[in-house]
Amino acid sequence: MEKDYLLRVENIKKYYRVKKSLFSNKNVYAKSVDDVSFNIEKGKVVGLVGESGCGKSTIAKCILNLIEPTEGKVTFEDKVIYDVKNNIKIDKKELNALRKDMQIIFQDPYSSLDPKMKVGDIIAEGIRAHNIKSKHEALELGENMLQLCGLDKKYIERYPHEFSGGQRQRIGIARALALNPKFVICDEPTAALDVSIQSQILNLMLDLKEELNLTYLFISHNLNIVKFFCDEVLVMYLGVIVEKGSSKDVYDNSLHPYTRGLISSIPRSHPSIIKEKIIIDGVVKSNTEEFSGCRFSSRCPYASEMCLMSEPKLREIEKNHFVACHMI
Ligand SMILES: Nc1ncnc2c1ncn2[C@@H]1O[C@H](COP(=O)(O)OP(=O)(O)OP(=O)(O)O)[C@@H](O)[C@H]1O
Ligand SMILES: [Mg+2]
Repeated sequence: MEKDYLLRVENIKKYYRVKKSLFSNKNVYAKSVDDVSFNIEKGKVVGLVGESGCGKSTIAKCILNLIEPTEGKVTFEDKVIYDVKNNIKIDKKELNALRKDMQIIFQDPYSSLDPKMKVGDIIAEGIRAHNIKSKHEALELGENMLQLCGLDKKYIERYPHEFSGGQRQRIGIARALALNPKFVICDEPTAALDVSIQSQILNLMLDLKEELNLTYLFISHNLNIVKFFCDEVLVMYLGVIVEKGSSKDVYDNSLHPYTRGLISSIPRSHPSIIKEKIIIDGVVKSNTEEFSGCRFSSRCPYASEMCLMSEPKLREIEKNHFVACHMI
């Protein structure tokens, strides 16, 4: 049966021109995202993991059309947001309408809320911008959203500095969900919070997902959280996806040496649990390099000559489990 995809990302690239090479007239590009494709089914949570700087937030910004991609195509439901090759770009009016359906929750609840605005106005801002409701109705919806996110409705009159980090993130979630979106990108939504608060926020997000029929792209460094939270996982390394599959396959049967290294670095949940320790050392290549072989080869204990010469492509090794590695 054909799957019901909410989002389709095809071959997106984002190159930033950083400087001219010292030795020639050629431009040098940072290849932040370098040919990434994936789909997200309606109602699923897809996790995007990888080290700092591998391109996770850049993918999020490309999907939301906050930055112009260099190449690729993104389709939301049946609407093509852009298709660089065929010179197609959604018009402003349609994009504005789509903005309601696609929202983002940011990592830092301290800097993402305007300190000069009351909580009620922060939550109602998007609703007002889309002219959906009157001021009074928007504030009433704001109160409801606060309650839905586990906060007292009287907080609507307060300012962000009067709240703790966890409460601020609840306000950030209320703001993102007030427009009744279909799809939410969560960019490290709990990374700035205490561990004890993290699970409360994650549970809230899971409850809201069920209640409001949401679909999430969940970006995180924390593999424990991704395992608990996500149906599928995409593992990124230096601008490309190196492994993708169900959460279970990627965690319990990880194949790519990078994924295995990441998973072995998760602290054990109990001292009696013995795990194979895989240490990833070596030098991380720069995303401004011209890659001829595997991007991970400089750190991979299994790298062969072939890995230095040709870049491995994602291949389906088991059903719905894809890996980009010559050695598998
Ligand atoms: N405006 C820019 N100009 C040049 N390079 C950029 C720009 N924005 C991002 N980059 C580079 O793109 C790469 C990917 O950045 P991105 O923010 O997507 O990483 P990330 O995976 O989200 O990292 P983190 O986990 O730290 O948030 C980085 O090497 C970054 O330096
Ligand atoms: Mg980021």
